[in-house]
Amino acid sequence: MYEIPVIEGDGIGPEVVGAGKQVLEAAGEAHGFDVQWQEYPFGADHYLDTGEVLPDDTLSELESYDAIYFGSVGDPRVEPGVLERGIVLRLRFEFDQYVNYRPVQLLDGIETPLRNRGPEDIDIAVIRENTEDFYVGLGGRVSEASHQRHDLERELYDASFDVDIDTDAEDLAYQLGVASKPGCQRVVRYAFETARERGDDRVTAVDKANVMPDVYGLWRETVESVSEEYETDHEFVYADAAAMDLVRDPGRYGTVVTPNLFGDILTDLGAMLQGGIGLCPGANINPDGTSLFEPMHGSAPDIAGEGAANPTATIWAGALLLDHIGESAASKSVLGALGDALAEGAVLTPDLGGDASTAEFADAVSSKL
Ligand code: IPM
Ligand code: MG
Repeated sequence: MYEIPVIEGDGIGPEVVGAGKQVLEAAGEAHGFDVQWQEYPFGADHYLDTGEVLPDDTLSELESYDAIYFGSVGDPRVEPGVLERGIVLRLRFEFDQYVNYRPVQLLDGIETPLRNRGPEDIDIAVIRENTEDFYVGLGGRVSEASHQRHDLERELYDASFDVDIDTDAEDLAYQLGVASKPGCQRVVRYAFETARERGDDRVTAVDKANVMPDVYGLWRETVESVSEEYETDHEFVYADAAAMDLVRDPGRYGTVVTPNLFGDILTDLGAMLQGGIGLCPGANINPDGTSLFEPMHGSAPDIAGEGAANPTATIWAGALLLDHIGESAASKSVLGALGDALAEGAVLTPDLGGDASTAEFADAVSSKL
């Protein structure tokens, strides 16, 4: 029996997570295990009712689990960032989920907007760093000389920044990006391990060391030094060139390791290569702690409650969760059932040109298990 905490969140979150839970339960039945869901109410409604975003005692409670199943947060009634930073990013940082694994894989039966490309051309493991970079949320706005102090607390280290600003600009804003050697090392190692598992002969490291030589200089140096521990080759590609080249020739990419912000952007690009944002899962991984599995998409308030959302990303995230907790056979079955349902194309949600509902698609996948 597995106890798995669930945060369905906002918008289409409850619908897609409902579909995901159903499929995971069906996988459990087929493979001889039970799942007991621990539901947590966090998201816009809870925040608007109680003023609470994500309480500390919940964090300590969640810490005792290996894996959290997550939907999406974000709601037009709440100022942008409150729930995203207060829930998603807080969980990533507090639980030190330093890897964000995002498969960019074109499944059979799905159309990519790229002409003359098929599943053999698009199969990329993006390993996105998930705790540092410009995501640390340190910065400020000033309009006169001032002093600001920023504290960064991470599992690996603490750092404080005293910023003295002297300016005659009318209004000035700044944002700190942070990289650390151990922070880069662990995610780069994870990428080399991933490449080895996948049988990729090269790791592509993304940066923008030509313009931000401190943060990405350290990143590059670390890729160089970690690469010496492995047989696998590596290359460096600037983030802008990577955006271009992923469209021009996705087939030359296998394992890609990227700093947090570029990874955010490039995986949305990747989502389009693989046929739509409704198809892309993300695994926020701390190999020794609490990991979180979620669809890459947001809460899509415009279609919430209509049963029109594609639950593929969430079901796929569920398969990654099963693999993470050691149910790799069940994980493979879920991926197989999901792939078959999509390839057959008899029951598809509207984003894929069908007219099935979220629940009907979940039924179609479950019935294959
Ligand atoms: C993602 C999302 C998040 C991010 C938001 C919701 C904070 O875009 O998971 O890619 O920027 O990482
Ligand atoms: Mg994103």
